[in-house]
Amino acid sequence: MAKEGNMEYTLSRRMGHMRPSAVRQILKVTEQPEMISFAGGLPAPECFPVAEIAQSVERVLGEAGPQALQYAVTEGFSPLREKFAAEMQSRGVAGTAENILVTSGSQQGLDLIAKVLLDPGDCVLTESPTYLAAIQAFQAYEARFVPVPMDAWGLVPEALEEAILRERPKLLYIIPNFQNPTGITLAAERRRAIYDLALRHRLVIVEDDPYGKLRYRGTEIPPIAALDHEGLVLYISTVSKTITPGLRVGWVAGHPTLLRSLAIAKQAADLHTSNLDQRIVDRYLTDFDSAAHIEAIRRLYGVRFALMDRCLTEEMPEGYHWTHPEGGMFLWVTCPEWVDAGAMLPHAIERKVVFVPGKDFFPDGSGTRYMRLNFSNATEEKIQAGVARLAEVAGQAVLQAGR
Ligand SMILES: Cc1ncc(COP(=O)(O)O)c(C=O)c1O
Repeated sequence: MAKEGNMEYTLSRRMGHMRPSAVRQILKVTEQPEMISFAGGLPAPECFPVAEIAQSVERVLGEAGPQALQYAVTEGFSPLREKFAAEMQSRGVAGTAENILVTSGSQQGLDLIAKVLLDPGDCVLTESPTYLAAIQAFQAYEARFVPVPMDAWGLVPEALEEAILRERPKLLYIIPNFQNPTGITLAAERRRAIYDLALRHRLVIVEDDPYGKLRYRGTEIPPIAALDHEGLVLYISTVSKTITPGLRVGWVAGHPTLLRSLAIAKQAADLHTSNLDQRIVDRYLTDFDSAAHIEAIRRLYGVRFALMDRCLTEEMPEGYHWTHPEGGMFLWVTCPEWVDAGAMLPHAIERKVVFVPGKDFFPDGSGTRYMRLNFSNATEEKIQAGVARLAEVAGQAVLQAGR
């Protein structure tokens, strides 16, 4: 393989729209020794059901043998589609296996939806801020982003209506539960208002819900998809946060007509989701108490959030505020107006603590005074030490700003 040639590659026009993920770049720093990371979106590894997965693998290979290693159908392994349909019913969403397409992680669901619905220049409405890799997925299809403001109760319906009338969007992308990056949950009455607006304007809603099962406080709110009898909502979820992201298994739930188009797009992408991964997930869900497992994850994340919140309260200088999510894996810090969180990051890295500056979560690159902190992945000890380091850096940033 040539290593030293100077071939110039002419990349596709779409690559001109794509930015590298800032989170992935920052994750490289987390490999440095002594570094405490609040940057990644990683689940707690001690919650991965390693022994149960090992048994599931053994049983799948013992029982299905070569069949588990063969090519498979695009729509997904039927027993697993049925389980995901039952899961949807437990979330208040009617449907059968026909309403489920198994995907290679929910990230692939985003890519397929964009591929099937978006032409270059089509408008996508998003929360502001929103999930970075969704921006990347939609950017690949040359979408035009229009961010819609949020407050403590989530996306603001009045602002959504204005944006719909002004921009004639193709779809709305929204993360209603413990949103990545803010941790904010969309209030129940807003879910209804947003659905009614979408219905009136025939707008497709992509409801991304990887964190809904990770509620450690408050009461569950049914998804927007539970209101939908018109086939407007494409709901996506995943086993990444409840079992393991190492098995790349997610799903899209929606109207069979749209799922058929997604399945055609999926054939071009990867033919089907790993047959072995799907069967392992199916076996795990059949043989083990996944509800009890999720309960343990919820409890742990609740403890970690409470600790991070307490440490921030005790240590952060005046003028810094943060959200108080009722579940999920992230909280969102608002710095004093004159502080640039991106400029703070190199100092934080020097002090061996790392976070993601908020700017990258805004499709228009605004929002310099925010940081996203992950509380699921660090141990209690590391949360305490990491927040102490972060608070020092935050204090210096205030002094440097000369106020
Ligand atoms: C909002 C959101 N959507 C989708 C994903 C992708 O998850 P996966 O592809 O592992 O299912 C993530 C992962 O962090 C996420 O935060």
